[in-house]
Amino acid sequence: MSSTAVIGLQWGDEAKGKIVDLLTDQHDIVVRYQGGNNAGHTVVCNGQTYKLSLLPVGVLRPGIVSVVAPGVVINPRAFLGEIDQLRERNVPVGDNLLVSDRAHVVFPYHVAEEAVLEKSRKSDAIGTTMRGIGTCYRDKAGRTHAMRMGDLYHVDSFRQRLAEIVIQKNQLLTALLPDFQQLDAAKIAEEYLGYAARLAPHVTDTTSYLHTALAQGKRLLFEGAQGSLLDIDHGSFPYVTSSNSSGCGIHNGSGVPERNISRMIGVVKAYTTRVGGGPFPTELNNSIGQHIRDVGKEYGTVTGRPRRCGWFDAVAAGYGGRISGVDCLAVMLLDVLSQLDELKVCVAYEIRGERTINFPSHVEELMLAQPVYRTLPGWKTDISHVRKLGDFPGATRAYLDTLAEIMGRPVEIISVGPDREQTILAD
Ligand code: IMP
Repeated sequence: MSSTAVIGLQWGDEAKGKIVDLLTDQHDIVVRYQGGNNAGHTVVCNGQTYKLSLLPVGVLRPGIVSVVAPGVVINPRAFLGEIDQLRERNVPVGDNLLVSDRAHVVFPYHVAEEAVLEKSRKSDAIGTTMRGIGTCYRDKAGRTHAMRMGDLYHVDSFRQRLAEIVIQKNQLLTALLPDFQQLDAAKIAEEYLGYAARLAPHVTDTTSYLHTALAQGKRLLFEGAQGSLLDIDHGSFPYVTSSNSSGCGIHNGSGVPERNISRMIGVVKAYTTRVGGGPFPTELNNSIGQHIRDVGKEYGTVTGRPRRCGWFDAVAAGYGGRISGVDCLAVMLLDVLSQLDELKVCVAYEIRGERTINFPSHVEELMLAQPVYRTLPGWKTDISHVRKLGDFPGATRAYLDTLAEIMGRPVEIISVGPDREQTILAD
């Protein structure tokens, strides 16, 4: 058994795509199991930069099958747009891409509803990606207004159900926004049936496919989207995404039991970032935060929003690692911290004068958390050319040792730049 999972331990954007891409050679199938086109993966492959949102990173590698499993929510227009972009760049997309017929579909009313709901939260807005992800997951849980990929191929019932749903969505949206421009069910049905025809060669029962593949000894690579702290059940609720974006989501999103996975890799940035609203105890609203944002090019892949930046928070990431059950760490973007005089790592929080190493379950407690820092010396050399652990400056190794010690997990992969070669594997 040599299946692997790659899970972000922070608030997303940990550069998981690079790790997934690195590991594809050792696997047969890459599985994306939650989230939608709210995610963004930037991968540098053969000197070219690809930005993927819904498609698994495996789609860039010949010989790998990429699976989009039931837990993903699919905007078919965005999905086809990504396929078209890859084909334009001569990346073959055909029977190497499978999409679950159980995956739920994002419709225009999901996007419209999200815009209205986010606006109504005013300064408390979650700061979502506005892709209709949360509203689609809500309809999935509610069932009455839900549609899955498989429904698109039952044309008569699809048209009828969509017509019923759109009547109710128009009523709801008009109640919330009196000048809401009414949606036309027949038009949406035609549009989506067109997408369905194009996607037909890819849509299948991926769960059975994965079970058969496992029985044949195929090696699966699970690609998490977002990060553990954005998990709907275990993250910094309500400032989270709407899926189980920690390791907890693998089983329910893919239909593959976690006992089939032999290696769980927790991906962290060497610092912390967050996009959107919500508490962020180690946030740096100063020149150091700006320096990290500039050097790390910390702007959202999907929305282009500047990411909030701060010191590594071992309380938050440590919690992410425990809920996700990771065995080891991949530390990304370590080169971004070069040139700083000193570095800080948050080892505990102080909340109302009490010290804790537990990540608070209530958002108002997290808002009160004052980071307790361990300060380490910086290194003022360019480490982006380092290829062996022993070639790092002593201060860099001390920083990595500190992360491993506080997180209680060995650091097995270190990234010092976007290219494949800028990766160090610790023995
Ligand atoms: P949603 O997933 O669009 O509903 O957004 C909910 C929260 O998750 C917002 O704070 C988003 O910025 C954040 N989020 C969603 N996807 C990503 C991602 O891929 N990286 C980082 N943050 C994300």
